[in-house]
Amino acid sequence: MKDNIFVMDHPLIQHKLTILRDKHTGTKQFRELVNEIATLICYEATRNWPLQDVEIETPMQKAVTKEIAGKKVALVPILRAGLGMVDGMLNLVPSAKVGHIGLYRDHETLQPVEYYNKLPGDIEERDVMILDPMLATGGSAIDAIGIVKRSNPKSIKFLCIIAAPEGLKALHEAHPDVGIYCAAVDEKLNENGYILPGLGDAGDRIFGTK
Ligand code: PRP
Ligand code: URA
Repeated sequence: MKDNIFVMDHPLIQHKLTILRDKHTGTKQFRELVNEIATLICYEATRNWPLQDVEIETPMQKAVTKEIAGKKVALVPILRAGLGMVDGMLNLVPSAKVGHIGLYRDHETLQPVEYYNKLPGDIEERDVMILDPMLATGGSAIDAIGIVKRSNPKSIKFLCIIAAPEGLKALHEAHPDVGIYCAAVDEKLNENGYILPGLGDAGDRIFGTK
């Protein structure tokens, strides 16, 4: 694995992912699990954030302790399914601004089609975390990162739940500077571009559509 691709093997993530994949898991629990897994991935994806000293007063005495050094973050979910990860991320990074990129995969060509784009105005001062539970062919993630890069953010990370090996390779080749965080790398894509074993259509399972 490349040094900026991170696969979370924490038991809590793996356990929750098993329930998420199960076709008997209903919409309410699916939504909760996507958020919980996003929180756990966020914990790992923020591990390298720099700290600075800060002086405080405890009830006992003054102390020099640590705080996160001036971190300005933008979360950018790829619509629709990325929305399912936003609340879980905000649990740990409540001051983040949230932009949105609307992309859907054309069912025939599997190519992403852009239909919405609204990013924070000060994005060039921010570290961006792009969110999408599924990295399949990689087309949507590659395009979303290309769109965000045009606004010159300080850095970009891509956070997903399940990645296909094909998408991981394509994304890393297209944007080698972008750190990729995922909870699992699955076996392969099927002929319709769905991840096997995967979890089905993430957007449909989060929003109860079909
Ligand atoms: C899904 C998923 C990703 C994309 C991944 O979205 O949420 O955005 O497919 O596939 P790719 O790596 O081959 O581009 P979809 O296009 O189904 O849209 P939706 O979230 O609105 O359902
Ligand atoms: N999008 C999904 O939601 N699921 C897949 O398996 C592939 C793309």
